[in-house]
Amino acid sequence: MKVILCNDYEEMSEKAARMVADVMRQKPDAVLGLATGSTPEGMYSRLVAMNRAGELDFSGVTTVNLDEYYPISPENDQSYRYFMNTHLFDHVNIDKTRTFVPDGMASDPEAACAAYEETLRQVGQVDIQILGIGQNGHIGFNEPAEALEVPTHVTALTESTIKANARFFASESDVPTHALTMGMGTILRAKSILIMANGQAKQAAVRTMLEGKLTTGCPASLLNLHADVTLLCDRAALGQ
Ligand code: PGA
Repeated sequence: MKVILCNDYEEMSEKAARMVADVMRQKPDAVLGLATGSTPEGMYSRLVAMNRAGELDFSGVTTVNLDEYYPISPENDQSYRYFMNTHLFDHVNIDKTRTFVPDGMASDPEAACAAYEETLRQVGQVDIQILGIGQNGHIGFNEPAEALEVPTHVTALTESTIKANARFFASESDVPTHALTMGMGTILRAKSILIMANGQAKQAAVRTMLEGKLTTGCPASLLNLHADVTLLCDRAALGQ
């Protein structure tokens, strides 16, 4: 894993946006694997600014998101579909029919996961997968567990993730208890992976990931199996 230390959140976001923009310029019909959360917000605002300045074209791009709460409506302002619309898709010249997020409203969530895997196969290999990391080392909603799932699947959120995400909801009991998420196998199929981490709260997870050992107790550690992973982080996340 290539580690790039950034002075602060702004520099991390700038570098991440530049890496994504480079992929898009080399391949105008790139497939971007996208993530939600507070970590990539600064990256998205820079991508929007580049698009508005006429420096970056989204017209040929396809996007696939990592995960979505379940159950949740796309109109709910805490849904990941809503997040993507408001942070990126509504502000750039992307074809929204080419933006994919797992279906948080599906009547049959298992079937929705299988359908998502089929969509992923149809759009082709993700050129660059953006990831954040949970305080507990989760990637997407692949939570620490004795065994991890390979494909897109339905999962229960851990208590620690519900607590970490409660800040976005009126109360902890409003946080959905489940999610649909790409599996570790799905994520590791990407051509390249860009993971971002900032702040002291991520330090333990980042340390475990960088130890270079594989453990299902820290799903992010499985990224050590991939040949092209870049970590962009600040000093607090790296423990320096
Ligand atoms: P955050 O979430 O970017 O809001 O810290 C990251 C994650 O839980 O994967």
